[in-house]
Amino acid sequence: MERTYLMIKPDGVQRGLIGRIVARLEDKGFKLAAAKLITVTEEQARRHYAEHEGKDFFGELVSFITSGPVFAMVWEGDDVIALSRLLIGKTKVGEALPGTIRGDFASHTPLNLIHGSDSPESAAREIANFFTPEEINTYDKTISAWM
Ligand code: PPS
Repeated sequence: MERTYLMIKPDGVQRGLIGRIVARLEDKGFKLAAAKLITVTEEQARRHYAEHEGKDFFGELVSFITSGPVFAMVWEGDDVIALSRLLIGKTKVGEALPGTIRGDFASHTPLNLIHGSDSPESAAREIANFFTPEEINTYDKTISAWM
C-alpha cells in the first residue's frame, strides 16, 4: 500500500475548502491515515521545498506556506501518489483541467490550494517532516470491520 503527503495550503484553508477537498479524496477511495491543522515553521518549509532552493520563487514558496495554517494529511491507496496528483491537477492554473481540484477551485498560480508528493522518496521525506510515526493511524477502512 502506497502513502503520500498531501497538504491543503493556506489559501485552501482560508477559503474554507478543506471539507470539499477531503471529500474528493475520500470519494476516490483513498484512506486517510493522518491529518492535522498546523502552522508550518520556516525550518519545516525550507526542508519541504529544499529541492527548489536557489530558484527565483523559493522565497515566495516559503513565505506563502508559512503565512497561515495548512491542513497536513497522509493518505494511503494503490498508486495514491500518481492518482492524487491527477485529482489535484497541473501546477499552473491555466493548465489545470476542469474536474481537478486546481481546475475547479484555483485561479492564481502560486495560490494552487494543495501540495502532493511527486515520488515515493518525496512522500517518505515529506511525511517524516510533518508527522511522527505515532500520528499515523492504522485501521481497517471497510465497514465489515464492525460486522
Ligand atoms: S519546477 O520548477 O518545475 O520544479 O516547479 P514546480 O514543480 O512546477 O513547482 C514547485 C512548487 O513551486 C510552486 N511554484 C511557485 N510558487 C511561487 N511562485 C511561482 N512562480 C511558482 N511556480 C511554481 C508550485 O506550486 C509547487 O509547489 P507545490 O507545493 O509542490 O505544489
